[in-house]
Parts: sequence; C-alpha cells; structure tokens
Amino acid sequence: MKIFLDSANTQKIKEAAAMGLCDGITTNPTIILKEGRDHKEVIKEISALILGPISVEGIGETADEMVKDAVEFSKWGKNIVAKVPMTKEGLKAVRILEAKGIPTNVTLVFSPAQALLAAKAGASYISPFVGRLDDISQNGMALIAGILTILKNYGFKSQVIVASVRSPMHVVEAAKAGAHIATVPPDVFDKLFSHPLTDKGIKSFIGDYKKANSALGEVGAKK
Ligand code: E4P
Repeated sequence: MKIFLDSANTQKIKEAAAMGLCDGITTNPTIILKEGRDHKEVIKEISALILGPISVEGIGETADEMVKDAVEFSKWGKNIVAKVPMTKEGLKAVRILEAKGIPTNVTLVFSPAQALLAAKAGASYISPFVGRLDDISQNGMALIAGILTILKNYGFKSQVIVASVRSPMHVVEAAKAGAHIATVPPDVFDKLFSHPLTDKGIKSFIGDYKKANSALGEVGAKK
C-alpha cells in the first residue's frame, strides 16, 4: 500500500521523504490554512520535494470553474492531481480533466454508489473519508471494503485513497482491506513507528552493551 502524507507541512514531508516513505501528498484548503502559507507557494515547494502525486483542491462549484482551477494548479508543479468534490459538476470536470491528461481525485466520498459513479467517470483516484463516517457512528472501513469490491468486479482503473485517517488502526485496516493508498496526517504517521517493546528492547540492549564493555575493561585493567 502506498502511503501519502495528508499535509502541507514541508518539514514533515521532507522527513518522510528522506525515509522513502512518502509516496504522495494530499491537501485541502483546511490543511493549507493550518500552515498559514500561500497556496501556490506551498504547493510549488512540495512539488520540488517529492516525485509522487500531489492533490490540490480548489473552490470551484461548476465544472467550468473546477477545470479552470485545475489547469492553473497543474502549472504549479509536476504530478499535480486535481481534487474535485463528489457532485454532478465534479464528475463532469473529471471527464474533461482526465481527457486533458490532468489526473483527478474525487473527494468527499461517503458511499459505494458515489465511488461507483466516480470510477465510471474515469477518476484516477477516489477518496472515501473513513474518519468522518466513524464520527457519525457509521463504519468507515466497511465502506472501503465495499468500494474495493466494486472496482475489482469491473476492473476500474481508479485507485482508492483511504482519507480522513485518524489513527494507526485506520492505516492497518486499509492495508488489510487491500486499499491502494492511505493518506495519513503527520501525527498518525509518527505513531506508526512506535511500540513500547521496541523502546524497552533498545534501552536494554544499549545497557547490556555498556555493561559488557565495562566488564571487559575491568578484566583488562586486572591483567
Ligand atoms: C484528504 O484527501 C482529505 O481531505 C482529508 O483526509 C480529510 O481529513 P479530515 O476528515 O480529518 O478533515
């Protein structure tokens, strides 16, 4: 499974990219607002940091507005993906943009029916929001399994990006379900590394190494 960072924080992106663990980036206006930076400036900077796809979302409501935004975004860097909302106008824009060679990511997907339509429209990526479904007591991960079955049944080319990820378990469940991609906020990404037994093991190995060396030192001193 590919891991995207759901972030526009260039420091966090650099860190993940240095470990070879950042296969792409997703952003939305809220994520960019968090960084307090200009949209164009930050996307251009991210594009210089990573090779994978970078999803950028505009605020157009008609297909024409969305296409206009996406054409502009695609000039900001290589591998720009136009994020469009799951609406009739959004899917019209998908068809036009994919024909122009600009990949699309249909966002705010909350049902298998919406995913089926996005796939039929030709979206390169589909983003079901698992966390926001969990928030209203619906099963976000069950949606992923359903969408993957539909895509597989008909050989659709769209890739599923598990979005609105809130915990390491969302990432693990996404991988178990066979999702193509999980887009992960930096705090959840950091948690994926940790296990208390790893920390405990490292501490005890370092302690024993030092004990062994000092014991050898004592033997050497007595000779
Ligand atoms: C990514 O494409 C989505 O915009 C993002 O994962 C939404 O996450 P949220 O529900 O935590 O805002």
